[in-house]
Amino acid sequence: MNNIAVFASGSGSNFQAILDAIKSQKLEANIKLLVCDKPSAYVLERARNENIPQFVFHAKEYASKQEYERAILSQLREYEIEWIILAGYMRLIGPTLLKEFEGKIVNIHPSLLPVFPGKDAIGQALEAGVEKSGVTIHFVDEGMDTGPVIAQREVQIDPNETKASLQIKIHQIEHELYPATLQNLLQRRS
Ligand code: GRF
Repeated sequence: MNNIAVFASGSGSNFQAILDAIKSQKLEANIKLLVCDKPSAYVLERARNENIPQFVFHAKEYASKQEYERAILSQLREYEIEWIILAGYMRLIGPTLLKEFEGKIVNIHPSLLPVFPGKDAIGQALEAGVEKSGVTIHFVDEGMDTGPVIAQREVQIDPNETKASLQIKIHQIEHELYPATLQNLLQRRS
């Protein structure tokens, strides 16, 4: 079956790359649901264009993370979701989802973890003056970008690199690496 839910908070270019890989039969999976915590996020429009159901929530309307994750969980059960794929989802996953989806939550991060975890990893790499950064795909645990690494790919940082130019390079890698890595993972583990 390989029913997946993509969680995203932003533009959703990775959501789109996953969807395109499915359409071109490079990835055997079904995006059954988009989960989003930002009502203005562009990813919602992408999902609408493709008729993918979406669950949008305002964290502030819930008493706690446990409460909104319970609401998400009931949606995931309804759509018979097997894998949670994080693609620019800007919240830490809590015990409610981690327990039910142990070993089945994957994230993509724009650095070579364990260096530059957390927010603005691209800015952090430029600030640090390193010559290379990259992309990491990893399993999600209770930490911030700390779970076991599944795949990594390096990118060279040029001397005149800007945040915008590095972001473009990183996105190009992400859009290829995420669907390919998911294909391997889902076929192996499902
Ligand atoms: C990506 O760079 C991803 O690595 C990070 O958030 C960004 C999401 O970009 N976790 P997009 O919304 O998929 O375009």
